[in-house]
Amino acid sequence: MTSVIVVGAQWGDEGKGKITDYLAGQADMVLRCQGGSNAGHTVVVNGVTHALHLIPCGILNPDTVCVVGNGVVLDLKVVLNEINTLEEQGISCRKLVISEKAHLIMPYHYAMDEYQEALKGDNKIGTTKRGIGPAYMDKTARQGIRLLDLMEWRPFLEKLDYNLREKNAIFASAGLPVIDTAAREKIVAEYAAYRDQIAPYVGETTYLVNEALADGKRLLFEGAQGSLLDIDHGTYPFVTSSSTVAAGSCSGVGIGPTRIDRVLGIAKAYCTRVGAGPFPTELADAAGENIRQLGHEFGVTTGRPRRVGWFDGPVVRYSALVNGMTDLCITKLDILDSLPEIKVCTAYSYRGKVTDRLPSTLAALSACTPIYETLPGWQADTTGCRSFDELPENAQKYILRLEELTGMPVAMVAVGADRESTIVRREVF
Ligand code: GDP
Ligand code: IMO
Ligand code: MG
Repeated sequence: MTSVIVVGAQWGDEGKGKITDYLAGQADMVLRCQGGSNAGHTVVVNGVTHALHLIPCGILNPDTVCVVGNGVVLDLKVVLNEINTLEEQGISCRKLVISEKAHLIMPYHYAMDEYQEALKGDNKIGTTKRGIGPAYMDKTARQGIRLLDLMEWRPFLEKLDYNLREKNAIFASAGLPVIDTAAREKIVAEYAAYRDQIAPYVGETTYLVNEALADGKRLLFEGAQGSLLDIDHGTYPFVTSSSTVAAGSCSGVGIGPTRIDRVLGIAKAYCTRVGAGPFPTELADAAGENIRQLGHEFGVTTGRPRRVGWFDGPVVRYSALVNGMTDLCITKLDILDSLPEIKVCTAYSYRGKVTDRLPSTLAALSACTPIYETLPGWQADTTGCRSFDELPENAQKYILRLEELTGMPVAMVAVGADRESTIVRREVF
């Protein structure tokens, strides 16, 4: 038995999809545990790019069972589109199982996401507007609609009507269009159709996953978002609404923490963030624009330009801590190939003192000035390298310095978007 959690070590988009797909070849089961279609995970295989939002990236391996766990908030329109697209491409979703306990994203969650962002004005989070926060709000308020409610139908209608009463009161007081009888009927018809289409994929997953573990199967947990977007451990309130750290993977499928063998943190060789919130090493200048262009740093889900900055040592060290990380994978090393010099943040200067800790308040984090160390670039193409020894000497030194700074062994390095462009220093499974 080996179970490995893949977790984002920064603010998301670290390359979790690519690494999950790579490791899925050695796994029996790949699981999404939290988040929803705010996630955009890219996999490139044989020159074809797949952007997946809800279906685990293990789906490209025909023998891998893919589980969407109870912790995920499910947008049925997105997931059905994804299934159709994959099937059209000849990729079978036969081995996909979606937990009946997963909560549904409803049209009013989209409206609520828009409304809450508008209400926040200058303080808006910059959400993906996929209804994620409002869906998790209903879940924790114990009024969410689960997939099993939809399958049973009557509970779906009852819960829908309760939620419409509540949401309509809010929409009406805000002067927004309410969901009237005609709009309700449209939702009912839409979800009745989804129910039929999703039925073959819905199942019980808690026993399924635990039995797979008991049978000695290899499980790979595909984290979504990043640790600094975690509802508890991230840069609150500029975070997402789920537990994105490794612990969230356990509760998101119903296994205990004692069953986890490795936690593989994924970090870019630099750093990006989409949406608002503090980002100490952000480069709001030509150097940042250069890396944005080199790295094609535009969101998979929203197309928004990603904010770009240097590798932040304290951030990844903090991630290592809150995740119980055992290994690190550095992605997009190749994006730095042309740079003459590369900076890394080793610590912060805060009120005249040097600290390597992340403060808890946004104000304090915003007042932290990064302390940089400048390393020489390698100015050579790394995209063809398939072993650590093949990397240019300065690229090797860069990786070794990141190991020192984060206190984590770098088990893997990615030097390109496609599956093959991957260096393994230490086997994960
Ligand atoms: P995720 O959300 O963590 O799965 O990451 P995204 O897919 O949102 O963003 C990562 C982007 O970088 C995608 O376009 C990937 O195809 C790409 N990518 C991942 N690893 C590498 C790498 O090592 N080199 C390059 N050039 N691109 C990479
Ligand atoms: P993957 O899995 C990057 C960010 C949004 C916003 C904040 C809250 O592809 O790494 P939400 O819609 O979740 O309420 O938005 O979180 N965010 C992500 N940023 N990658 C993601 O997922 C993200 N999912 C959410 O940009 O700042
Ligand atoms: Mg992404």
